[in-house]
Amino acid sequence: MKISCVGLTKICFVLSVSLCVVFFLFIPWMKHGSLYPPPLLECNGTCRSGHLESLLEGTRLPPQRHNRSVAGWKNYSAQGAGQSEEPLQIEDVFIAVKTTKKYHSSRLDLLLQTWISHAKEQTFIFTDWEDQELRQKVGNQMVNTNCSAVHTRQALCCKMAVEYDKFVQSTKKWFCHMDDDNYLNLSALLNLLSAFPHNADIYVGRPSLDHPVETLDRVKGDGSASLKFWFATGGAGFCISRGLALKMSPWASMGNFISTAEKVRLPDDCTIGYIIEGLLEVRMQHSNLFHSHLENLHRLPQSTLLQQVTLSYGGPENRRNVVRIPGVFSLEQDPSRFRSLHCLLYPEVSWCPSKK
Ligand SMILES: *[C@@H]1O[C@H](CO)[C@@H](O)[C@H](O)[C@H]1NC(C)=O
Ligand SMILES: *[C@@H]1O[C@H](CO)[C@@H](O)[C@H](O)[C@H]1NC(C)=O
Ligand SMILES: *[C@@H]1O[C@H](CO)[C@@H](O)[C@H](O)[C@H]1NC(C)=O
Ligand SMILES: *[C@@H]1O[C@H](CO)[C@@H](O)[C@H](O)[C@H]1NC(C)=O
Ligand SMILES: *[C@@H]1O[C@H](CO)[C@@H](O)[C@H](O)[C@H]1NC(C)=O
Repeated sequence: MKISCVGLTKICFVLSVSLCVVFFLFIPWMKHGSLYPPPLLECNGTCRSGHLESLLEGTRLPPQRHNRSVAGWKNYSAQGAGQSEEPLQIEDVFIAVKTTKKYHSSRLDLLLQTWISHAKEQTFIFTDWEDQELRQKVGNQMVNTNCSAVHTRQALCCKMAVEYDKFVQSTKKWFCHMDDDNYLNLSALLNLLSAFPHNADIYVGRPSLDHPVETLDRVKGDGSASLKFWFATGGAGFCISRGLALKMSPWASMGNFISTAEKVRLPDDCTIGYIIEGLLEVRMQHSNLFHSHLENLHRLPQSTLLQQVTLSYGGPENRRNVVRIPGVFSLEQDPSRFRSLHCLLYPEVSWCPSKK
């Protein structure tokens, strides 16, 4: 009798504990649940289709963007809080490079030989395969996200989620996301970022479309009005200040990024814009110094190449879409033009032909 009584108490205890656990698990979900809009945009290509528009647009930006551009901020930071601070160092920046198994040798090696070699400690490579060769080359700078290697929205969002969490764990002032076909000019990046106060809410990159994305606002409104937001195309690289990144946390940290992206059915870069402009109401800083492979890179004037923050090159479907850069290496030797560019920046590098 005694035994069965104890047994009953145990069962009651276990039951109440599990009830509590279920209850507590649901609290945060209920809290944020109402903030998430139901899926609005079937965005399996809607956001990305805009890339085509930017292709046609070339590098031109509509005039109304000017007062949202960097020039005004230079002034702000020159007089503002930024003044007394230490100048921004490359050590203050967390650079995430997103890649995949398939591109470890073709694309990543080129980056490791060129710009990453000047920012080894700051650059983290987010991939989907435990590549021993790469691990030996870069050690802990390689992050195996354990995300799927397929090129789907879910897999890309999974990587972005890991990038975000890894940045938050670091103590860096800036988060910059790059793709594995980007050439990053480190000093141009520092120039750009130091125009902003790092403790302000800054989201800077190249707009993917020449107009904002529009969805029905079921977050703050009742779903009858629309919500417009800009987003920076991930393929050109973008940066977010630490303060802003921390504010994104309810929708971005610890796997929340994936569920946010699922709920709105947006691609990874589009979801970032949705959280920042749509939910946090922070406006993106539009910069035309970032470039993705979907632009007409051929059209970039040679005289401006060295001012650009990021460059890119056409994929297998568009090999000739590369920046025009004279001499150094031929197109056959250097199809992406990244080696030629790198030698212009760092002529002292051993594999660069020495200037006569
Ligand atoms: C999304 O993809 C599905 C299947 O690939 C397609 O049927 C649907 O029309 C697409 N939606 C949009 C908005 O492109
Ligand atoms: C942008 O600049 C124009 C003129 O330079 C000005 O009329 C307009 O009010 C500005 N818009 C914003 C949002 O600051
Ligand atoms: C910079 O600030 C000064 C002083 O407030 C102002 O006169 C000037 O017009 C500003 N320049 C820009 C580009 O905003
Ligand atoms: C991926 O899996 C490995 C092995 O289980 C683990 O050590 C690593 O931390 C995981 N990576 C991430 C980003 O969770
Ligand atoms: C990188 O940027 C700096 C400063 O903006 C410039 O002097 C340099 O030439 C640039 N190099 C390349 C390769 O773009």
